[in-house]
Amino acid sequence: MNILVLNGSPRKNGNTARLVQAFEKGAKEAGHSVKTENVALKKINGCRACEYCHEKEKAVCVQKDDMQDIYSEIKEADMLVLASPIYYYAMTGQLISALNRTYALGKLAHIKKAALILSSGAPDMYESAVAQYKGVIGWWGAVDAGVFAVHGITRSHSLENTGDAWLERLYQFGRNLK
Ligand SMILES: Cc1cc2nc3c(=O)[nH]c(=O)nc-3n(C[C@H](O)[C@H](O)[C@H](O)COP(=O)(O)O)c2cc1C
Repeated sequence: MNILVLNGSPRKNGNTARLVQAFEKGAKEAGHSVKTENVALKKINGCRACEYCHEKEKAVCVQKDDMQDIYSEIKEADMLVLASPIYYYAMTGQLISALNRTYALGKLAHIKKAALILSSGAPDMYESAVAQYKGVIGWWGAVDAGVFAVHGITRSHSLENTGDAWLERLYQFGRNLK
């Protein structure tokens, strides 16, 4: 499969990135093609709701920012993985901006599978992020392949307390992905 991961963490080597890397390693070993985009490190504006993409040029976003590259990658993907730290009980604004911008493409009916990787400081922070993810992928018609919600960090933002087992689970998830 062609797998696209959208990582919404602004921390290049943060907890979310480490979880994504473990998944990516397993999925690549299983023969999948995996591309990870750090959407929080790109210039991606929010949707303007201008309807240019529906009324002027179909599926073309009028905003010529870094989302243009992501559009091409989304069109090629069979599976989309959303990865994000929890910010105020939700996925990061940067990831949501990218997700909102897929409005231009309409329903992503070609995305067959999806997964969600979340990282938070505290447990039980995931309800709204998971609800949004499930709602959106359900609308696309994609199957949920897995939700991974990981908490337990130290002051240095490392996952050493609880992280190793999760890294192994993410690796195995990728490794066993059909
Ligand atoms: C702006 C901001 C808001 C946050 N809000 C929450 C929160 O609501 N609940 C929580 O458990 N952790 C919260 N955190 C902590 C992060 O989710 C946590 O440190 C996460 O592991 C960071 O992932 P990263 O290293 O990939 O950036 C917040 C951190 C920031 C910077």
